[in-house]
Amino acid sequence: MPPRVRKAVFPVAGLGTRFLPATKSVPKEMLPVVDRPLVQYAVDEALEAGIEQLIFVTGRGKMAIEDHFDVAFELEATQTSRGKKLNALDGTRMKPGSCVFVRQQEPLGLGHAIWCAREIVGNEPFAIFLPDEFMVGAPGCMKQMVDAYDKIGGNLICALEVDPSETHSYGVIDPGARNGALTEVKGLVEKPAPGTAPSNLIVAGRYILQPDVMRILENQEAGAGGEIQLTDAMAQMIGSQAFHGVTFDGDRYDCGSKLGFAQANLALAMSMPDIGPALKDFARKLVC
Ligand code: G1P
Repeated sequence: MPPRVRKAVFPVAGLGTRFLPATKSVPKEMLPVVDRPLVQYAVDEALEAGIEQLIFVTGRGKMAIEDHFDVAFELEATQTSRGKKLNALDGTRMKPGSCVFVRQQEPLGLGHAIWCAREIVGNEPFAIFLPDEFMVGAPGCMKQMVDAYDKIGGNLICALEVDPSETHSYGVIDPGARNGALTEVKGLVEKPAPGTAPSNLIVAGRYILQPDVMRILENQEAGAGGEIQLTDAMAQMIGSQAFHGVTFDGDRYDCGSKLGFAQANLALAMSMPDIGPALKDFARKLVC
């Protein structure tokens, strides 16, 4: 078996400009899908996959994320003294030492954000979660990827088909042979110009990478959008290391866009036993 994936990096330093003014003083990762912040779904997914250490690459104005995964002493003491249960806080009180926060001091791109975690990741394979990509599945997306990794090792990225008109917004895979949920990755290109993408298979915000990527990122030059791109560093590993895409069996919402965010809220709320039936009635009336 390849070495276990014990650590995960969550790049959460982005400014969230697409959601202004909501994100002026609230980190975009703290926007709720129904009743829990986006970042918490990603953390739940990581814990389900057996991840033990959560490394958040944050920036100025992101302290709410750190507070969210801490013990809220005043809140808990008040609730307890009122005889109220604390189970709504399940999944937010992290074990001491399991969360690490490092800062990305300048917005130089996703590749640079990941590189900021290099000392904490050390020399072992690690996962990456982009919390904007909201994945709903049983088991979760990362658990499916870790199961595949335990069998084949190397580097894995979550691969997902999108409409060809959307490929210019994503990292795109040049696919090789397909075997079940696994697709060989022959090449990667970040945000290809419309009409030039090698396929409609995108990199959908979940990765399991070998630590060698950190060494490549060290010298990675700026790429698409003038930013240091993780995709460009990964592309350099293809050929010397195993690289596969994993097709996720589940639903994906791009919560980096307003449409995806609204769809995630609607779909999740409709699936909840307490509010789902009433919401469906309401939605039916709205569209008639
Ligand atoms: C990032 C990655 C891109 C990936 C996308 C998934 O882009 O650079 O390769 O496909 O996330 O959402 P961003 O959305 O930060 O522009």
